[in-house]
Amino acid sequence: MHIQPLIQTALFDVADWEVDAEFGVFPQGARAKDAVFAPDQPPEPVISPKRRYLFKRSKKSYPDQFWGEVVAYRVGCLLGVQVPPAFAAWNSQTGHCAALIEWFYDGSEAFVMAGDFLQKMHSDFDRKHGTQHNLLDNMRLLRTIAYHKLLEPGWRQWWIDALLFDALIGNTDRHQDNWGFIFYRAGQETRCRLAPLFDNGTSLGHERFTSHIGNWNDGNYGRYIANGTHHVKWSLSDDIPLRGHISLLTRALDEWPETREATRAKLNFSSCELSHTIRDLVQLTATVPLTAERLTFMLALLARRLALLKELLQ
Ligand SMILES: Nc1ncnc2c1ncn2[C@@H]1O[C@H](COP(=O)(O)OP(=O)(O)OP(=O)(O)O)[C@@H](O)[C@H]1O
Ligand SMILES: [Mg+2]
Repeated sequence: MHIQPLIQTALFDVADWEVDAEFGVFPQGARAKDAVFAPDQPPEPVISPKRRYLFKRSKKSYPDQFWGEVVAYRVGCLLGVQVPPAFAAWNSQTGHCAALIEWFYDGSEAFVMAGDFLQKMHSDFDRKHGTQHNLLDNMRLLRTIAYHKLLEPGWRQWWIDALLFDALIGNTDRHQDNWGFIFYRAGQETRCRLAPLFDNGTSLGHERFTSHIGNWNDGNYGRYIANGTHHVKWSLSDDIPLRGHISLLTRALDEWPETREATRAKLNFSSCELSHTIRDLVQLTATVPLTAERLTFMLALLARRLALLKELLQ
């Protein structure tokens, strides 16, 4: 079931938005970012008044990377998977462009990264690189939390959706701290649900400069896509780690065949619809715009990956 995306009509300027002083105390991750609060009267209805947003810049070497978060959000909506709404924004005082991403939990809830639990399961867990991050351990963790009735059902479909989404956008960075749990109170009890799919910008060919891929043919695209790997591997014990986007999804579908039908149904859209859902973004005026060349490259990758996924699930 598609989700109706929130569409902005102009770039948002956060220069006057209140910065959340607390957030900077806990910097986490590779890209410069701030948390900011939307004003009482937001510039457009797609922004919630007073809500917290992450203003997440690109890696220095790839200034237009932030567009990937916005495109990934739109693609997630088309797939029908939960991705925090993401918009294009800038700060007119600093000149920085960034993705403006809706905070995915509220003040009464707490987010815990999966890495916090995995480190408890393996005292030698390599938190920096996540070299031991694997789906069999993730399953053990999720089964344990679900067994204690803390976690809402559906975690198998959640992981299939994550693998499907990551395979479609070519995300290589779903490490142990890029997924996790939102804890909340339900009456006298504490429960949790899996967080929406956040941190989606290491994807969509962002590390390729468009000036270098103008002459790519089918062979170039095919090799690039075939080399795409997920961060998580299937298990720690495989001699050759299983982590290719398509092969990992294939393995997970074999493990949970009951998820197959719902997964196939999610791919019920065409490459034209993919184009339709993101092409308005090139109209947004920005100092770092989404260029027509970047959009064309993203769409070329998305269309090919969509075809591979449809073939897998037919
Ligand atoms: N929309 C959001 N709402 C609430 N918290 C968020 C949101 N997006 C990210 N975070 C928190 O901020 C942290 C850093 O954000 P994110 O993972 O997007 O950045 P990053 O710099 O790309 O990290 P990485 O090094 O994993 O690539 C996350 O681990 C998560 O705890
Ligand atoms: Mg991250």
